[in-house]
Amino acid sequence: MSSRVRTAVFPAAGLGTRFLPATKVIPKEMLALVDKPILQYGVEEAIASGIEHIIIVTGRGKGAMEDHFDISYELDATLERKGKKELLALSRSISSMARISYVRQKEPLGLGHAVLCAKDLVGNEPFGVILPDDVIDAQPACLKQMIEVFEERGGSVLATETVEGPAISAYGVLAGTQDSANERIFNCTGMVEKPKFEEAPSKQAIVGRYVLTPRVFELLEKTAPGAGGEIQLTDGIKALLKEESVFGYTFRGKRYDAGDKFGMLQATVEFALKRPEFGDKFRAYLKGLAL
Ligand code: G1P
Repeated sequence: MSSRVRTAVFPAAGLGTRFLPATKVIPKEMLALVDKPILQYGVEEAIASGIEHIIIVTGRGKGAMEDHFDISYELDATLERKGKKELLALSRSISSMARISYVRQKEPLGLGHAVLCAKDLVGNEPFGVILPDDVIDAQPACLKQMIEVFEERGGSVLATETVEGPAISAYGVLAGTQDSANERIFNCTGMVEKPKFEEAPSKQAIVGRYVLTPRVFELLEKTAPGAGGEIQLTDGIKALLKEESVFGYTFRGKRYDAGDKFGMLQATVEFALKRPEFGDKFRAYLKGLAL
């Protein structure tokens, strides 16, 4: 088994019901944050983390994702003819960005099942998982930080955030204790998917980045449906915990839930303010609003 993390799996087969009506026809992963589909932010993070092969788990009606990372001959030819060199370079850079494979999840059986669909493409080596609706603004890239922890500690690593109050029920939640040597690391002893607030074992919520050992695939094959009647990734990792170490990791950076309308608005404002071309103009515009 290679111990380098070379592959990242992007589960992207979900229906995006939290973002209707925009997602009736358009995959939620293709919603633009400022001017770039949220999926592309994840792909760029993976590349910045040293990932060489991206596996996107897709479903029915999700063809736009494949087209986005493919060569667009009509667009490129038109841009070339019109002498729009910068836009042509932009379009070409997307189609040559990464080695991407696609696999279909034929039925919406849950996040654990979606990850399992990538088993044959990943093979017997550790891999990253990026949930594209969680857009993470971090330097170095969030997955890169996690790969470093994986290499140092030799166990699977889950990105975490502290979540206060009943909002914790929307997440997978870790049980365990903070590491004595590194305050960003949480030594897991258990985990539960979408607990009731009163039953949450801690405030450490899992967010959409994972570095996992391939043993999790065999365990996911045996994982029964859990919360919401779905095969949960959290339950597969909980089984892994009986055999191997699993760590929570409080990444350095900021996460936005861009699969949610309010989260997308927050990300839009903050990412737009950082853009050199119009950040100052946008700041002045916001300041001028009678809020
Ligand atoms: C999924 C996972 C959950 C995790 C969350 C992070 O839930 O099942 O454990 O906390 O992503 O975004 P979902 O948001 O798909 O319901």
